Amino acid sequence: MRVIAVAGARPNFMKVAPIVSALKAAGHDAVLVHTGQHYDVQMSGQFFDELDLPAPDFNLEVGSASHTQQTARVMERFEPIVRETRPDWVIVVGDVNSTLACALTTAQLRPAVGCRLAHVEAGLRSRDWDMPEELNRVVTDRVSDLLLTPSPDAQANLAQEGLDDRASFVGNVMIDTLLGQLPRAREVDMPRRLSVARGTYVLVTLHRPSNVDDADALRVILEALVGIARDRPVVLPIHPRTRKNAVGFGLEALLAPLRVIEPVGYREMLSLSDGAACVLTDSGGLQEETTVLGVPCVTLRAQTERPITATVGTNRLAPWPLTPAGILATAHAAVAAGRFGVGERVPEGWDGRAAERIVAALASHVD
Ligand code: UD1
Repeated sequence: MRVIAVAGARPNFMKVAPIVSALKAAGHDAVLVHTGQHYDVQMSGQFFDELDLPAPDFNLEVGSASHTQQTARVMERFEPIVRETRPDWVIVVGDVNSTLACALTTAQLRPAVGCRLAHVEAGLRSRDWDMPEELNRVVTDRVSDLLLTPSPDAQANLAQEGLDDRASFVGNVMIDTLLGQLPRAREVDMPRRLSVARGTYVLVTLHRPSNVDDADALRVILEALVGIARDRPVVLPIHPRTRKNAVGFGLEALLAPLRVIEPVGYREMLSLSDGAACVLTDSGGLQEETTVLGVPCVTLRAQTERPITATVGTNRLAPWPLTPAGILATAHAAVAAGRFGVGERVPEGWDGRAAERIVAALASHVD
């Protein structure tokens, strides 16, 4: 079986790595396409080394642009690769613009090329149509032949949309990478490198347009972080979008009390999450990783498309609309709640073996 696996942006690489490796281990032909949506060493290159991802067979080098332009550029450049490669399957992961672009291209080429489309992390829904990711998720699921879901809530969402006949529960593939990398992440020992004691600091990530593209929204969050920093270190590996906007909005003074560092690699980030008293984030992946690590997490969003991280795991939503006092109180409560052991309270199928189940699902649908 020949499979094109697509990766485009930072949160894709840790999902694609175990899939490529499981495909190869089972003797299948895996073709890796990097769209180039993320291109900096810090946002892309370093993940290939750390996660043992082979160099991409194709790099589309689309770079940054508006959502529309980025999606269109990926589509234009992906089409000839599908035509030449003639895969049995194209597999896309997550909810970034590259996911949508390659999904649409594959669906359009399906009659001519005979390739089919599988979506990993299918069925997640925030029901917030202002999030570009919600559009990407819903459209990708609608045009996919096989919907590989990470959790029962995702299965239920697909059933509600009448898509469950194409769904197959495989669990969470990102956790394959986490469990495989945790021992090496602990050796990296980022808390020691930053001279912050394990279990004392708050780790923050922030990059959603709704939080960082609006000056007032960004100010509210940064004021809360300054409040937390009065009691304990606040470590902020800063996303390029967030840094650019903090400077543009004249909010740099609010970054001064924080330990602002450049974006970090996968193992460094895992080491930082693992050692934190609490994680504050608007990322989807971190809500899942903290659940597996047993570290309390506060999500800085109105809702989450990953509700199982709150019902089973360690996640809680800060009160919406966000205020400095609301974020501060929720962070204190989360720290006070304390942590669980690794893997102590995790959803079914978050067990390090999702990639095997994904490959088995693809193989069972090949004629
Ligand atoms: C994208 C995804 C988001 C994901 C996030 C993780 C979409 C719609 N959004 O958002 O779901 O959570 O990645 O980071 O696909 N930039 C760099 N270097 C890079 C890449 C980007 O400096 O290597 C800067 C550019 O100024 C760019 C900005 O970051 O304009 C935003 O990048 P973009 O890929 O458009 O979206 P993200 O905010 O990263």
